[in-house]
Amino acid sequence: GEIVGLAGGSGITPFRSMIRDIVEGNLDVKLTLLYGIRCPDDIIFGDELQALAEQAPGKITIHFVCSEPDSCWEGPSGFLSAACIAELAGDLSDKTLFVCGPPQMYRYLDEELKTFSLPPKRIRKEASGEVKEIDTYPAFPQEVVGKSFRVSVTMGNKALEIPALATETVLVALERANLAPPSKCRSGECGFCRSRLVSGEVYVRPEDDGRRSADKVFGFIHPCASYPVSDLVLEVPRDVV
Ligand code: FES
Repeated sequence: GEIVGLAGGSGITPFRSMIRDIVEGNLDVKLTLLYGIRCPDDIIFGDELQALAEQAPGKITIHFVCSEPDSCWEGPSGFLSAACIAELAGDLSDKTLFVCGPPQMYRYLDEELKTFSLPPKRIRKEASGEVKEIDTYPAFPQEVVGKSFRVSVTMGNKALEIPALATETVLVALERANLAPPSKCRSGECGFCRSRLVSGEVYVRPEDDGRRSADKVFGFIHPCASYPVSDLVLEVPRDVV
């Protein structure tokens, strides 16, 4: 099949997994990805995504679409409007759309996509199992909502300290800091992101807690399903790039 991906901000991350799956031969689709960014500095994983796309010629095409380009920007500019999508992705009639981005992007695209009169099942929102609005879960510790913590992370031979919001997963905090930690399912199940929590505490929804019981005892977490509720010291086993 053919997929058109519409990504905004950190909504790029599920597409990164999809692109890896295509390159590794685990997913047989053709992907045209339109990644909406405000300014060129907002691009997350730009070089990595381009390098991966080059490994699957003819299968993956990525367009960075910049809404506030500077004078050096040579790519397409503006928002992911119907006209922009039609121009970059071509005829949509037999393609499936995956959308992942911030709420204002969904609102904007809901209107724009009406132009194409696609059946609703051909427009999928959020290409991943990531949980949104964790603070609406009753068991989430409300006292940390709105707080930001420090994560001291070592990853291979890198060591740095990064900020992490209580309402974002540790994985997203790492990615925001331009690290490329391992991830696959992004919903706590596969263990691919398994990392050692040297100190600090995280909140994990019981239904997303795919850890083996020994891992819980020995202080391992799945960053994709863990929310910081204190400062953390974390060891991520490897950098995937
Ligand atoms: S990526 Fe699968 S458990 Fe985290």
